[in-house]
Amino acid sequence: MKILVIGSGAREHALVQKFLSEPGVDRVVAAPGNAGMSAQVTTVDVNVADSEAIADLAEQGEFDLVVVGPELPLVNGAADAVRARGIACFGPSAAAARLEGSKTFAKEVMAAAQVPTASAVTCTSVEEVGEALGRFGAPYVVKDDGLAGGKGVVVTDDRVEAECHARECLAKGSDVVVEEYLAGPEVSLFVITDGSAAVPFLAAQDHKRVGDGDSGPNTGGMGSYTPLVWAPSDLVADIMEQVARPTIAEMARRGTPFVGVLYCGLALTAEGLRVVEFNARFGDPEIQAVLRLLDSPLAPLLQAAASGQLADQPDPVWSQDAAVCVVIAAEGYPGAVANGDRIFGLDEAERIPGATVIHAGTARADNQIVTSGGRILSVTARGNDLSAARERAYRAVTAVKVRGSHHRNDIAEAASDGSITVPQ
Ligand code: AMP
Ligand code: GLY
Repeated sequence: MKILVIGSGAREHALVQKFLSEPGVDRVVAAPGNAGMSAQVTTVDVNVADSEAIADLAEQGEFDLVVVGPELPLVNGAADAVRARGIACFGPSAAAARLEGSKTFAKEVMAAAQVPTASAVTCTSVEEVGEALGRFGAPYVVKDDGLAGGKGVVVTDDRVEAECHARECLAKGSDVVVEEYLAGPEVSLFVITDGSAAVPFLAAQDHKRVGDGDSGPNTGGMGSYTPLVWAPSDLVADIMEQVARPTIAEMARRGTPFVGVLYCGLALTAEGLRVVEFNARFGDPEIQAVLRLLDSPLAPLLQAAASGQLADQPDPVWSQDAAVCVVIAAEGYPGAVANGDRIFGLDEAERIPGATVIHAGTARADNQIVTSGGRILSVTARGNDLSAARERAYRAVTAVKVRGSHHRNDIAEAASDGSITVPQ
């Protein structure tokens, strides 16, 4: 099988690494890729916002399968353009990717499918925002309705900060979604689907805030782990029944079947599970940890999903180990960052048993690996439990040196020491 992976982040590097380990995969090309991917596979430059350019690449390279990593090309219709050339594509159509591209649309689908989620109001003016904030009370949850690269959501007790964020979203032309605050641990579940059959991966948890103890602003994600040792044993079955299957059925009923991965982001509240968000692609950094525990091949599963044959696939096989992923971010992230800082210690990090370095914002300059983004790379480690995986991941993190970089020190800590509880 020849696979073209679209994207340039850690998610895509993790996918590339997994495909490379599989006997049925003959060739992997990444576009545009990053310095980590280019050391392992051919990379080709492409503007991921240009769906026809992606389809041209897929056609010229005679690929059997295109896997679109990020949300932007999906929302723009990259999967439609690829499929129009008769090539299998893992990723939803533009119409189905609206589940991620518009929070208001996602709420409509959830209401129709009776999927539990936070109550919410879509606002188009400062006055409406003010009224909604008053109605829901603190903590305030204010969201940009559209795509915002993981930075569109503000959760705060400070009403002025909530109003400020709403004003910024409205000023750039977005609607604003104000919603009820959900208290409880968060879970990410990736559900592979061909529009009808659905296969869950292992549930994982992301750490979204920039600082230890969940302090500071939200980011694209600072680290992740799996399995969720603290979660009820029927969690995945419950999410499939209450969330994933009804949503997939509702999308099919509308004539816009969802093909690809439905990322269910949930909070486990005292009232039961509630959807925080849907995404139309794998979550980064959760997928880095999850793929470390996937012992069966990924490519046939994604190909079957892309071609309507998921029901015929054997279930994925998961290791009983644990995996922890720690993101190393550039100085200033999630704000503006400087690029071009040299990255040291990558080989030392890779030598830690069970640890792997996955690149995100990296580039090659003068034959050195340098930074080129906010999240620079992630270190993922596997161990026989979370504590062993943490120890290896942090040994590898310590080996990597980048001027001014930062990371969280508490990824998977609460899960590993048993201090996460699900509200009853
Ligand atoms: P989203 O982009 O919608 O996933 O939001 C980013 C993060 O903001 C989530 O992972 C949560 O940590 C937080 N968040 C979003 N919505 C809510 C909510 N209704 N209640 C509490 N936290 C939320
Ligand atoms: N880890 C959060 C996301 O991918 O949206």
